Amino acid sequence: MDKLVLASRNKHKIIEMQEILRGLGIEVLSALDFPELEDVDEDQPTLEGNALKKARYVHEQTGLPALSDDTGLEVEALGGAPGVYSARYAGQNVTYQDNVMKLLKELDGVDKRSAQFRTVVALADGDQEYTFEGVCKGEILTEQKGDKGFGYDPVFQPAGYELTFAELDAPVKNKISHRGRAIQKFVEFLKT
Ligand code: IMP
Repeated sequence: MDKLVLASRNKHKIIEMQEILRGLGIEVLSALDFPELEDVDEDQPTLEGNALKKARYVHEQTGLPALSDDTGLEVEALGGAPGVYSARYAGQNVTYQDNVMKLLKELDGVDKRSAQFRTVVALADGDQEYTFEGVCKGEILTEQKGDKGFGYDPVFQPAGYELTFAELDAPVKNKISHRGRAIQKFVEFLKT
């Protein structure tokens, strides 16, 4: 494999994934390099389903191996919500901040605050399709801390750390994060 398209226009995700894939000798493009690509409706009931749907579409349109990711924040006290609906937790066309505020409201007064991020990365290349899962366990704080990262990062503190994802430097987040772990599995797969 000498070229790969990341099936995403999210600059935060693209930077994180390009950083992890650096040094493999693969030219890593993204959906930003293919303006004709349409947004894929993430209407599948699982992260796996959405990740495969995005990777398949981008592979069909570009003819290149396509790698996508779909991520959900699974909060124990909320029965695994927002999960696959993490991007639209507070409604359609909402901001990251709207979703974070809704989460803090739902957990108001709740002591048990354990949660995990789960990412499924999917590779589509012709009739070859593979998925790789990464999980990062932690807890949801009662207030926001830090201004790095994106999404729920300011309220998510990974297990074993006293800082949120929004306070940790990118290389540290990439090493322990759900997305970092899923992509590491993909890298191992490429090497074997
Ligand atoms: P997506 O469908 O994979 O884009 O992810 C769903 C939602 O999860 C996004 O809108 C973000 O709010 C959130 N999310 C995904 N990855 C991360 C992350 O690494 N940190 C914090 N929030 C994230």
